[in-house]
Amino acid sequence: MPKSLDTSGGLRWHLRALWRRSQWRDTTRHIADWLDTTQPASHHLLLIGGSAGWMMSGRWLQRFSRIDLIDLDPYAHRLFRWNHGRALRESGTELHIAAFDALESLESLLRQHPDATIFFDNVLGQHLFRVRQIERTEADLARITEQLKGRDWGSVHDLFSGPTDPLKLPAVPITQFNAVRDANGWVSEGLSGTPLHVRMLAQVGGIPDWVDHLTSELFPVGTPSRLIAWPFLPEYAHWLQAGWVAGTRR
Ligand SMILES: C[S@@+](CC[C@H](N)C(=O)[O-])C[C@H]1O[C@@H](n2cnc3c(N)ncnc32)[C@H](O)[C@@H]1O
Repeated sequence: MPKSLDTSGGLRWHLRALWRRSQWRDTTRHIADWLDTTQPASHHLLLIGGSAGWMMSGRWLQRFSRIDLIDLDPYAHRLFRWNHGRALRESGTELHIAAFDALESLESLLRQHPDATIFFDNVLGQHLFRVRQIERTEADLARITEQLKGRDWGSVHDLFSGPTDPLKLPAVPITQFNAVRDANGWVSEGLSGTPLHVRMLAQVGGIPDWVDHLTSELFPVGTPSRLIAWPFLPEYAHWLQAGWVAGTRR
């Protein structure tokens, strides 16, 4: 198995996603609710890093007439059809699946599919763990944002992750925030005082040391986004960021 699959995909991911499906239900629902608010400009979706779509909304996929799923993981093929095949047959959505490095080939993919909407499905936040170099990750992510200029695209990705202490969980945690990227960093709509990241960590019982996935500058300044808590393991959580950058309607 390629090393990359070890960290963000492959059999280990599928078994974990299956095993923890009920613990991830709220996160999956928050993602689906957020996806419902998006207005993709095209009926053709390039779905990058979609894996088997364990946390993807079938209802949202049904909006498209054609989906091209590109994932490094050779197991994604069958499992994606297992999870979403029926919904896609019902909506008459054509599904094409290929296994290659979509980030390396992004430029040619965008050229090949000039009218498609692009969605990065929880893949960009793992780039740091694939390439294992901060400078290269920052440069690659900045290049990706640049390549997407003028295109209609969205992404859900890890923002931060880290250890948690279940005893520190608030009685009624807030598991999502609305936020917008401004030139000075992150601000949460309607909240002032305590910095957002401190509030986010408190909601999941976060304890030192959390990892920055280097994705906080992916979206252009001013892009609204939804921050969603993901109780990945009993003692390890992620905060995901979901956002959409509207392009030209086709
Ligand atoms: C966390 S999983 C995505 C899970 C998916 N959102 C779901 O609901 O099951 C990340 C996926 O990105 C894929 N991936 C990572 N880097 C990639 C790349 N450069 N090109 C294509 N796929 C990639 C991995 O193989 C993995 O399946």
